[in-house]
Amino acid sequence: MDSTFGFDARIEDVIRRRCSWRTYDGRPLDDDKRAALAAFMAALGPAPFGSKTRFALVDAPPGTEEVKGTYGVVTGAHTFIVGAVQDGSRALEDFGHQMELIVLKATDLKLATCWLGGTLRRDAFGSSIGVHGGEIVPAVSPVGVSATRRALVDSALRLMAASRTRKPWEELFFDGRFGAPLSTEVAGDLATPLEMLRLAPSASNKQPWRVVVENGDAHLFLERTKGYAAMVAVDLQRLDMGIAMCHFALAARSVGLDGAWQTHHVSLHMPARTEYCATWTRRK
Ligand SMILES: Cc1cc2nc3c(=O)[nH]c(=O)nc-3n(C[C@H](O)[C@H](O)[C@H](O)COP(=O)(O)O)c2cc1C
Repeated sequence: MDSTFGFDARIEDVIRRRCSWRTYDGRPLDDDKRAALAAFMAALGPAPFGSKTRFALVDAPPGTEEVKGTYGVVTGAHTFIVGAVQDGSRALEDFGHQMELIVLKATDLKLATCWLGGTLRRDAFGSSIGVHGGEIVPAVSPVGVSATRRALVDSALRLMAASRTRKPWEELFFDGRFGAPLSTEVAGDLATPLEMLRLAPSASNKQPWRVVVENGDAHLFLERTKGYAAMVAVDLQRLDMGIAMCHFALAARSVGLDGAWQTHHVSLHMPARTEYCATWTRRK
């Protein structure tokens, strides 16, 4: 067991193995896996920007087979990971980061998951964990054993979002300034963390993350998808940023790099609809 991270498998393997499942076998989690996931959730460290998050495993009510509230997108799910965060300026990035750690731990335990930030009844999941003053429920995920075959709605959603594909490096990663593509050779020891970021899940698979590498540090930006933010109550692309931070930092640590996310004054010229998020800063 890799005690640094709390994962049994190599983090790169866990990241490569994760994919969204919306079709479950309808059975409760087995006791050992539930205990391992609950222990991991209880032992989460602080979020990168310090927001207060909390998570719980929510089961189907007795006598029923599955937790409702996903508009039929998810079938057969008995248990959900439900989380809340105290609302604030970086709450969504923090929530994305912490929830993705749990999603990856579930993957490590050979359980299936699926981020749900759009197709969920937020009020129903909120009351299931007793949200109180100032808290929001940005997203949830079913967790359990996947069915042997995907239901039609699951396959259709995957096809619509082209879920198996990711943008190529030259659209995502840059050398010193936007517009100058970064090669894996020039990326050097950041190549694995960047590749692990590239494999991250994102809402509708829009992959809004961009990275400019400068003097061995990685500046992370959000390039907003046109017309996307207005579609749902929560700014899902900020969740995507937190997920990206999680993948990058875990992979950086696994290849022996020492660094942390900080907020810098970055004076790079940015393309349209692009916002600075944070910088992974190498400890020198
Ligand atoms: C923040 C966030 C919100 C998402 N919301 C939904 C959702 O509401 N419904 C859904 O079916 N999938 C949702 N997804 C899953 C994405 O469509 C999926 O991650 C993406 O297509 C990439 O596929 P993969 O996870 O299999 O790699 C969401 C993903 C993220 C990261």
